[in-house]
Amino acid sequence: MTDYDPQMLVARAREASKNAYAPYSKFAVGAAVLLTDGSVVTGANFENASYGLTLCAETVALGTVSSMGRLRDVVAIGVIGGRMGHADTAPVSPCGRCRQVINEAAQLGGRDLPVHCGGATGDALTTYRLSELLPAAFGPKDLGLA
Ligand code: THU
Repeated sequence: MTDYDPQMLVARAREASKNAYAPYSKFAVGAAVLLTDGSVVTGANFENASYGLTLCAETVALGTVSSMGRLRDVVAIGVIGGRMGHADTAPVSPCGRCRQVINEAAQLGGRDLPVHCGGATGDALTTYRLSELLPAAFGPKDLGLA
């Protein structure tokens, strides 16, 4: 399964962002992870009163993928974000920690994953390869696991 519409993936991320639990930052993020069989797993950011414990949308989605035993089957990722109550259109790209988490799936699956980034609204879409976002990555390969 390599044929897909990046805007579809971003639309799924946008839908997921509606369930963001972000009362502190009021910044809603959604992530959508496309698997080899065409299925999509989504996540939204999950904040915590102890701010530093916040889980990002990408991490929530990939945690679900891992618990499904499907980390090796990730084909592409869509991410969107924006301030709640605003019509932000600027594409949001994954934070540093999320890039490292995405790298786990990328190396296990042997794919330089495309990461499609959009805004909370609008059609703007910026696509990166994970190797652009996290060059010279450390990962499971270094531990002989991929
Ligand atoms: N956030 C994500 O969910 N993913 C990212 O890649 C960037 C940041 C969340 C964390 C926090 O809930 C809010 O966005 C503001 O930083």
